[in-house]
Amino acid sequence: MTTRTIRLGVNIDHVATLRQQRGTSYPDVLRAAQLAVEHGADLITVHLREDRRHIQDADVEAIRAHVAAPLNLEMALTDEMLTLAEVVRPDWVCLVPERRQELTTEGGLDVLTAQDRIRAAAARLRAAGIRLSLFVDADPEQIQAAAECGADAVELHTGEYADASDPQQRQAVLQRLAHAASQSQALGLGVHAGHGLTLDNVGPIAALAEVTELNIGHAIVAEAIMRGLPRAVADMRAAIDRVLD
Ligand code: PXP
Repeated sequence: MTTRTIRLGVNIDHVATLRQQRGTSYPDVLRAAQLAVEHGADLITVHLREDRRHIQDADVEAIRAHVAAPLNLEMALTDEMLTLAEVVRPDWVCLVPERRQELTTEGGLDVLTAQDRIRAAAARLRAAGIRLSLFVDADPEQIQAAAECGADAVELHTGEYADASDPQQRQAVLQRLAHAASQSQALGLGVHAGHGLTLDNVGPIAALAEVTELNIGHAIVAEAIMRGLPRAVADMRAAIDRVLD
């Protein structure tokens, strides 16, 4: 019997994507966060992007105020975002690289070149009682630098693993992730992972002994659409038919 647990962080960015696409008040992002927690999410993860393309400041504030589960705020390393974090006080901040034109976060943070700025950010966040994780590739130098910056955890980028179509290539990436996970734990860092994880590919990542948290969004929101569509269509059919009766 294993006593190992893995926290599931449900990333609800793409509920907000659907809302922003039309500028409607639905789907309700706060309700999505509450439903996720009611059904097994251990924490809620949101990425407040500088361009505010999905999650808005008001979403972060509402989730912080009305959702009992811990909040993990993904954000870029900017003064604006650090100040916002100090006000909202999420349980965790996960620093991610951000490029405006990208569809999603494309690579890990370059901790090596931003070490001084990250160390300063870590001190600010620690003073506000916020724990810090750094979204990094499975690269020994980046992980060493993360530990030296005073981060509490790394979040290992699983995008390359998820994208690998060739089984051998996927196995090679998994090996790198396994080494990165054990290196991180040996350095005293918490080991989180995420990006591109689905029902089909999450198993080998969850099986890495050091992993304590997974952050998963796109695939959960996509699956929710498929599972919810029959009910949504039936409800609309009934609403129309009611006036015809
Ligand atoms: N973790 C981090 C740091 C991310 O930037 C993202 C994407 O916002 C995720 C996890 C979730 O990735 P996905 O939506 O592909 O599950």
